[in-house]
Amino acid sequence: MPTSSDIPSFLLPRLTNVAILAAQQAGEILKKAFNSPYQITFKEGKHNLVTQYDAEVENLIITFIKKQFPEHNFLAEESGEHGNFPDNILWIIDPIDGTVNFAHNIPLFSISIAATFQGEVLSGVIYNPITSELFVAEKNNGAYLNGAPLSVSKTNILAEAILATGFPYFVHENPLNCIDHFVSFTKLGVPIRRLGSAALDMAYVAAGRFDAFWEVSLKPWDFAAGLLLIEEAGGLITNYAKEPLIITKSSPILASNKALHDQMLQHLKVS
Ligand code: IPD
Ligand code: CA
Ligand code: CA
Repeated sequence: MPTSSDIPSFLLPRLTNVAILAAQQAGEILKKAFNSPYQITFKEGKHNLVTQYDAEVENLIITFIKKQFPEHNFLAEESGEHGNFPDNILWIIDPIDGTVNFAHNIPLFSISIAATFQGEVLSGVIYNPITSELFVAEKNNGAYLNGAPLSVSKTNILAEAILATGFPYFVHENPLNCIDHFVSFTKLGVPIRRLGSAALDMAYVAAGRFDAFWEVSLKPWDFAAGLLLIEEAGGLITNYAKEPLIITKSSPILASNKALHDQMLQHLKVS
């Protein structure tokens, strides 16, 4: 089976570039749309809303990438899977990560785009068009924020950490004890943030702003780009059993600066 080492080296920067351009074009639309009236609909229950821009921006991103790479495959939040090109690149896309924030005029949302091959992320881009922060990672080539190299924090004592988390739309069902985990971290007295965009949460861990982030159930489009940012910035990202993530499957996520990973896992035990 081919692996990422079979990808010709010239392709990697091209994938990254196309991901950046797609995110920036999508960002222009979202910047104009931010704070303006739009249509909202709901999917899977009353808390999980979607705006007209989720589909519009996703469509724009896929159309743009397809023009450059007609034989690539796609897995995107709003339109699902497209393409039937075995042994070729799979793009994983969240057009707006943080839709609830976007819909409430809160400037904390992002576009998340990852180019993957045989289960490995090759390029990952997370872009907040409102703050103009562009997080980019490329396999074995590092992680960057607006061109400046990123590395995770050095905090190695959990009591001194700043943490971030998120909750699934079905949080009230307490999947895998997610409410109990939140209580357990809260009892440490450490600052905990809930931004509302898992992709930004991971980008912030990569940037050393947060020491660790956990969430009980994230989808591939929530974490694919973030996974590479964390790894390329020197962090660690696993499920709660400390196993590597499967990028096409939903999973509990712990993303950390590596130094705090085991201490975090102590609190994420599933009873
Ligand atoms: C959501 C955000 C949120 C996380 C949810 C995700 P969406 O993605 O990343 O922070 O807590 O689990 O579903 O719906 O805004 O794309
Ligand atoms: Ca998302
Ligand atoms: Ca989304």
